[in-house]
Amino acid sequence: MDLTQLEILTELEPVAEQYLNRHLSMAKDWNPHEYVPWTQGHNFAAMGGKDWAPEQSQLSEVAKVAMITNLLTEDNLPSYHREIAQNFSEAGAWRTWVDRWTAEENRHGIVMRDYLVVTRGVDPVALEEARMIHMTNGAQSPDGWGGFLEGVAYVTFQELATRVSHRNTGKACNDPVAERMLQRIAADENLHMVFYRSLCGAALDLTPDQAMPAITKIVTNFLMPGAGMPNFRRNSVVMAKHGIYDLRQHLEEVIQPVLKQWDVFDRSDFGPRGEQARDTLGQFVAKLDNDVVRFEEQRDRALARDAARGLSHQL
Ligand SMILES: [Fe+2]
Ligand SMILES: [Fe+2]
Repeated sequence: MDLTQLEILTELEPVAEQYLNRHLSMAKDWNPHEYVPWTQGHNFAAMGGKDWAPEQSQLSEVAKVAMITNLLTEDNLPSYHREIAQNFSEAGAWRTWVDRWTAEENRHGIVMRDYLVVTRGVDPVALEEARMIHMTNGAQSPDGWGGFLEGVAYVTFQELATRVSHRNTGKACNDPVAERMLQRIAADENLHMVFYRSLCGAALDLTPDQAMPAITKIVTNFLMPGAGMPNFRRNSVVMAKHGIYDLRQHLEEVIQPVLKQWDVFDRSDFGPRGEQARDTLGQFVAKLDNDVVRFEEQRDRALARDAARGLSHQL
């Protein structure tokens, strides 16, 4: 018989407490101000200096797009807090985790914005406009995703996806200061992922025929958390094209390691409903495997065309 959401949360509360304590013992406290090169800063026109101009940025177009996408994603924290707070319990370790996680996440937006404004990496006015639009729209789970199981499955993949994206953005910035900052953020995202992955794994052990369909629903419909921000589609194509976050990374660095950790394809505790969900997931992953090859062929051709165009400009 299915467990209610309250039963699942109550049953898993000791596990949440255990992994909360593990997280607190492993998380490193760090200060955003120690990751920003303040001496590079200058006043803007409102204080007698100069306003931003494109030539002031040291970042490539790809790095700009990736930084903006990742920062706006972090900016939408109030929406994520709301979603997670609604899906988790307001009691005990659940509540403590949600508040701690929120406080940690807030550092990511703080440090990235400080870095971008001080180094004049992107247009601060356009950035602020985009933040207003994105946060005013907010983020909401699609219909039918509500509930702890879908929520905890989603954040497991999402934390790992943002870890990959931040780390690769750090490399693309071609600035050791930015790389160090984004590595620091990526390390946080990894610990967040471990917490959620552990809880989702415990839910899979507790009630496999309920958890497995939730996992399948999330993986087969996965969207990055920033979907919905201005220019998201265009920017995610740029990021995929240049290896910040592409289909192979999504499959091999995000989906597959988590499914392996949960032993999804080798476990024997499913009834018919879990079996069916696992089959659907298996077919989806196999299709993704094919899509990766097709995507990379298309990408290689597109990059070759870009290179040829660049060459012809120089000639
Ligand atoms: Fe974050
Ligand atoms: Fe995170």
